Amino acid sequence: MSNYVKRFSAFDRVVHWVLAVAFFVLLFSGLALFAHTFFNYFDFFGGPQQGILAHKIAGIFFLITSVLLFFTQIKDTCRFDADDAKWFGAFGGYLSRSKIDIPQGKFNAGQKLYAIFAIIAATVLGLTGYVIWDPTAMERGLTQWSLMLHGLFFVLIIVGAVIHIYLATIGNPGTAEGMLWGRVRRVWAKKHASKWYKEVTGDSD
Ligand code: HEM
Repeated sequence: MSNYVKRFSAFDRVVHWVLAVAFFVLLFSGLALFAHTFFNYFDFFGGPQQGILAHKIAGIFFLITSVLLFFTQIKDTCRFDADDAKWFGAFGGYLSRSKIDIPQGKFNAGQKLYAIFAIIAATVLGLTGYVIWDPTAMERGLTQWSLMLHGLFFVLIIVGAVIHIYLATIGNPGTAEGMLWGRVRRVWAKKHASKWYKEVTGDSD
């Protein structure tokens, strides 16, 4: 019996990593646009004009891959059950010293919440980005609201992504293997996603 369980298809992984690369391009070009302190980040792109162009192109990739990632994982991220309520009640065990054991599906309740937040943030950033694409093109009030929301969701998505990246790597060793190679270790699956593990393998232990 193999030590591994398949978790993500090649398509899922390509979508996720294109999204992650687009996110980092948006992050650095966005920071340069956001605050004077980061203005030098435009140097990564060869100057302000190129940086703004990179931001717009990466924005299109980010929106498309966010929608694809959301819809390919929707059945595992948008259905909450009683175990998810228990998980929220215990904050996933992250704030307690004692080990908690609440059975979870493919994604835990926190990941589900993050996936929903990520699609909402990507949609708001995409729509407001469209309005401010040419800041003089649309009505002034709408442009000002869009600039404000774009900045707000930029900050929120950075906070979300920092937490997500930490928990998907050093916070929970073995998790990144799934997104890198498509499969996770059985022990990882039993520990982090026992209901999903039983569902995909038919194992009862
Ligand atoms: C270096 C950057 C990143 C790393 C290392 C990373 C890692 C991962 C890993 C390992 C998973 C699979 C989790 C599992 O199997 O339980 C995952 C899922 C996911 N990632 Fe990322 N990710 C990164 C960037 C991003 C960004 C920038 C976003 C969106 C803004 C994002 C959104 C998602 C979503 C929505 C999922 C699906 C379920 C979830 O965990 O909520 N990721 N990521």
